Amino acid sequence: MKNQEAIEKRRTFGIISHPDAGKTTLTEKLLLFGGAIQTAGAVKNNKIKKSATSDFMEIEKQRGISVATSVMAFEYNGKQINILDTPGHKDFAEDTFRTLTAVDSVILVIDCANGVEEQTRKLMEVCRMRKTPVIIFINKMDRDGKDPFELLDELEQSLDIKVRPLTWPIGMGDRFQGVYNIYQKGLNLFSANKTKISDDVVSISDINDASLNEIVGEKPADELREELEMIEGVYDAFSREAYLAGDVAPVFFGSAVNNFGVKELLDTFCEVSPSPRGRETDKRMVEPGDDQFSGFVFKIHANLDPKHRDRIAFLRVVSGKFERNTFYQHVRLDKKLKFPNPTSFMAQDKSVIDEAYPGDVVGLYDTGNFKIGDTLTSGEVMMYKGIPSFSPEIFQELENLDPLKSKQLEKGIRQLIDEGVAQLFVQQPGNRKIVGTVGQLQFEVINYRLIHEYGANCRFVPRNYFKACWITTDNNEQLQSFIRAKSNYLAKDKDDNLVFLAETTFLLQMAEQDYPDLVFKSKMENTLLVAKLKKCQNLNIMS
Ligand code: G4P
Repeated sequence: MKNQEAIEKRRTFGIISHPDAGKTTLTEKLLLFGGAIQTAGAVKNNKIKKSATSDFMEIEKQRGISVATSVMAFEYNGKQINILDTPGHKDFAEDTFRTLTAVDSVILVIDCANGVEEQTRKLMEVCRMRKTPVIIFINKMDRDGKDPFELLDELEQSLDIKVRPLTWPIGMGDRFQGVYNIYQKGLNLFSANKTKISDDVVSISDINDASLNEIVGEKPADELREELEMIEGVYDAFSREAYLAGDVAPVFFGSAVNNFGVKELLDTFCEVSPSPRGRETDKRMVEPGDDQFSGFVFKIHANLDPKHRDRIAFLRVVSGKFERNTFYQHVRLDKKLKFPNPTSFMAQDKSVIDEAYPGDVVGLYDTGNFKIGDTLTSGEVMMYKGIPSFSPEIFQELENLDPLKSKQLEKGIRQLIDEGVAQLFVQQPGNRKIVGTVGQLQFEVINYRLIHEYGANCRFVPRNYFKACWITTDNNEQLQSFIRAKSNYLAKDKDDNLVFLAETTFLLQMAEQDYPDLVFKSKMENTLLVAKLKKCQNLNIMS
C-alpha cells in the first residue's frame, strides 16, 4: 500500500471517561459495528479471560477496573480504526495521559445523569494542552438525567471548550424516543436492544413535516422543533476546522448499552476526525508523509503471558513505513535493533505483521531495551517530545525485607519503573528508594508484582512529601549552594535528573524565593528535561 493512501485511511483515537460512564460499553459497540467482535459482552469477557490467565490481572478483576491499556483495530466505512483503550481508574491516570500522546483525537463519554466528573476534567485538561480534537458522547439517555441544554452549559463551563450538538435527544429516561441527527437530517428511533445494531432511521427532509408528529407524538415533535431552533440560535454552525483545532467539540447523545446513537457517532467520526498527525521532536516537526520511518514508545506491558518474562512495548508509528526484520535506530541507546515478530492487535487478538503505517500501534517484544518515551527511527537522531512526567502525589519508601533478594528487588523495581507503573527517586546516602505514584492502588500492584514476578519481598513506608520538582537552571553557583543546603530533600529520578522533594507548598515557595535562578517544575517533557539538565552535569551530590 502507498503511504499516503494508508495515512488517509487511518483514524487513531482514544475513548476517555470518568469510570462507569460507559467507556467499555461504547468501545464494545464500536467493535460490533466494525465487525471486530460478533456478540455483545466480548470486551468484558475478554477482561475476565485475561484475569484467568494472569494472576496480576486478578487485581483488575477484583476491583473491576481496566489496568491494561489495550489497542483494538477494525475497518469501517473504508477507514482503518485504531482504538487505544485507557484505564478509567484515577490511580492509573498517568497511563492514560501517556496514551493520549499516541492518539490523534478522542471520544469523551459523559454519563447524562452525572455530567462532568472529576476524571473527565483532568483528562480534558491534557487534551486541551495538546489541542487534541474531541467528540463528546452523552450516554445513558435511556435513564433520567440532566436537561440536555444544562449538560451542554456544564461541558462548556467546566471543560473550557465550546460545544456543538450534532444529534439531539427526543425525551430521556422512560420518555426517550430517539435522537434527531442534525448533521444528516434523520430520525433514529429508540428501541432497547442490547445485542443487535439498531438501524431504524427515518429520514426527515423537513423538520416541520407533519409526519414527525405521527412518529413521535405532537408534543415531543413541537419540543424538538423548538429545541432545534434554539440550538441554531445559540451555537455556531459546526466547523470541522474548529473541531480539528481542538476549539469545538461536537456532541452526540445516545445509549451505548442499547447500541443507540452509536452509529451516528461512528459515521460522523469517520467523516470528520483527523487522519494521523505529525509530532514534534527535539529537532524538527515530523509529518506522517515523511519517507523515513519513525515512532515512539508510549506504553510497556510486562508479562502478558506469565510463562514468559518478556514485555511488549507499544510503539506508535509517526512517519514512514515500519517493516518487520528491518534494523532501526534506538536513539537513546544509540543501538540498531530489528524486530522479527512485531504484532498488531485486532480486538485484542495479536498477530504478526510485516508492515505498519503512521497511526498504527505496533507491539514490539522487548527484553529490556525500551523505556516509555523512547524513539525509534530509520537512522535520524531525534527524540519525540510530549511524553510528560508529572509529579507524583503519594510518596513511599521501598524497604527490602529479604537481604538475600536485593538483586531481584532492584531488577524488579527498575523494570516496573521503565513500564511507567510509578516513578522512582533515589536518595543518598544509602541508596534509599522513594516510589511516587498518583494513587494508592499502584503500590498494591507493585508489591504484588515484585513478589509474584521477581520473588522479592518488600514493604512500603509512607513519606511526607507532597511534590517532586525537577530542577533546571543555568546558574551553576546557585545550584551548588541549593544542593549543599537541601541535600536531605534531593533525589535523582530514573534518568539521573535532579529532583527536589518538597514537603509543603510553603517550603517550595521558600526555595523558589531563596534561589530565584532555579526553576522548579512539577511537570516536564522527558526529552526537554534531559537536554536542559545536561547543562548541570557536574552535580556530585549523589555519586
Ligand atoms: P466504564 O468502562 O466507563 O467504567 O463503564 P462501563 O462501560 O463498564 O459501564 C458502566 C455501567 O454502565 C455498566 O453497568 C453498563 O452496563 C452501564 N451502561 C453503559 N451504557 C449504558 C446506557 O446507555 N444505559 C444504561 N442504563 N446503562 C449503561 P454495570 O451494572 O456496572 O455492568 P453490567 O453488569 O451491565 O455489565
